[in-house]
Amino acid sequence: MISGLIKRVAAEWALHHHNKQNRRGVVSPDAQEYFVIPEALPPAVFQEALKELEVLNANWVRSHTEWRQGAAIGGHELRAGSQSIWLDYLMSDDFLIKVRRATGINDLQYVPVADTNRLSLLLYEGAGDGIDWHVDGSIYLGQRWAGILVLLEETSETQAKLELAPGEEPVTLPKAGIENSLVLFRGDHVRHRVRPMREDERRVVVSLLFTNWPQRTMNPFLLRYQSRVNSVFYNNPRP
Ligand SMILES: [Fe+2]
Repeated sequence: MISGLIKRVAAEWALHHHNKQNRRGVVSPDAQEYFVIPEALPPAVFQEALKELEVLNANWVRSHTEWRQGAAIGGHELRAGSQSIWLDYLMSDDFLIKVRRATGINDLQYVPVADTNRLSLLLYEGAGDGIDWHVDGSIYLGQRWAGILVLLEETSETQAKLELAPGEEPVTLPKAGIENSLVLFRGDHVRHRVRPMREDERRVVVSLLFTNWPQRTMNPFLLRYQSRVNSVFYNNPRP
């Protein structure tokens, strides 16, 4: 019990220190990994997801903030409005085992179901919509693994809109094959951005959030910041 408490306090301190460093633009050089997993969904499941996008149109929550101009659907609303098997697949052991095998992260798991960021849908469309270089905040004591599963990348460019900078130089990914690929990275360490959309371009992704230790911080400042992000992106009520 004592060792559990010590581990917890040490992790709280490390997270606090990490978030402070993040705000200064300092990230850990040993956490700059990313993975691209092609054909993340079986073809029939991927087609189900695309079909459902057409009926989800009314549910987008639009945001016009300093962060971005696009739209999103939070995990809870998405599940409530879904009639399809594709979300079940994403939440299945089969999918998690596939991701663990592809990455070698054997203790990877979803963040708790109460967290709207566990699974959400993001829409980028219209000239200028995107999100500039940043690292994410984190409210979990374990490693934060952000997953971006691209459903649609309807752009006129040859490179995917998502860019990562694991180190000094940004990395672009070819647009060919990016649809139905899962890009997994340490979102709170690897700088990333979505290049601005051009007129008539559209991009829809499922954003997934994993960790290897789904213990939420007790730090009120970090929890308040996350609550603000959720409110802006998904219209979640703020406590
Ligand atoms: Fe991000």
